[in-house]
Amino acid sequence: MKLSLTALIGICLLVIMGCDVASSAPAEKTVSDLPVEKSTGLVFDPVALDMGTVLEGEKASATLLIRNNGQDFSQIVKVESSCGCTTAEPETRMLAPGAFTLLHIEVDTLAKRGDIRKSITMTDQNGVQSIAWLSLHVKENPHALGEKRSIFDGKCASCHAEPAKGKTLGLEIYTAVCVMCHGVAAKGGYAPSLRGLDDVDVLRNLIANGTGTQHMPAFSKKEGGPLTHKQISRLVKWIISLDE
Ligand code: HEC
Ligand code: HEC
Repeated sequence: MKLSLTALIGICLLVIMGCDVASSAPAEKTVSDLPVEKSTGLVFDPVALDMGTVLEGEKASATLLIRNNGQDFSQIVKVESSCGCTTAEPETRMLAPGAFTLLHIEVDTLAKRGDIRKSITMTDQNGVQSIAWLSLHVKENPHALGEKRSIFDGKCASCHAEPAKGKTLGLEIYTAVCVMCHGVAAKGGYAPSLRGLDDVDVLRNLIANGTGTQHMPAFSKKEGGPLTHKQISRLVKWIISLDE
């Protein structure tokens, strides 16, 4: 009698603790709010992962499990992240029912700071997608300040510099190379809102020469960026035309 009572209390405790753990994990809460398509086949485990704190400029890495929860063979057709600064390579792409593989993820933290959230989207042979969320904290790295690499170099340039080529309208240029950091309609996102800035010379100077940090590099051709003098003028005019 005594023994079974202890066991009962033990089970109750486990249940309570289990509930507690689940409800106090903030990552899980946010994930359930997100429109993740339910996949009966390939699933990420876990679907949200905290990669911890990294110094800016260093690579952050993590490994997720991909499991085939379906009844049939499944193929990982595509794994991608919206920012090309994040790579994700699965060890194998064809999975038998119940089998799993490892997905190796690497985030290049150059030009990043603070709390970053990234999503990884996986697509199977039927076009069904699953999403996993990564979070990491990027700490300022005084040793990286002299670093010459920028978002306009190498593979970063294909998304952060080249899309501005040939664009002539302010909004077009903004959408090509600014929106990913300053947000839709310049209302702010990863970087601050640009609304309410109304000094033409100050704006021109900030865009052309950058803010002196790696987060906001010089965009003028003269300083190694992608924008011509004329494009910067158009951009400045467009920013000033926005209401606060
Ligand atoms: C395939 C296009 C693409 C490539 C290549 C790319 N980026 Fe991005 N980048 C984006 C997009 C889209 C966003 C905004 C959405 C996001 O964060 O995923 C972004 C956001 C960023 C941000 C803002 C902070 C953040 O993480 O949201 C930084 C900094 C950045 N990229 C740096 C880089 C660096 C450094 C490289 C090269 C190692 C690079 N990007 C390569 C498309 C790209
Ligand atoms: C990789 C992300 C990134 C991209 C792309 C980017 N910015 Fe920025 N920008 C920042 C960050 C972060 C700041 C805040 C200051 C700092 O940290 O250097 C900033 C600051 C600024 C400021 C100064 C704001 C203030 O209140 O002083 C202006 C103006 C600006 N950006 C305009 C632009 C324009 C225009 C573009 C496109 C040509 C652009 N930025 C592209 C990240 C970015």
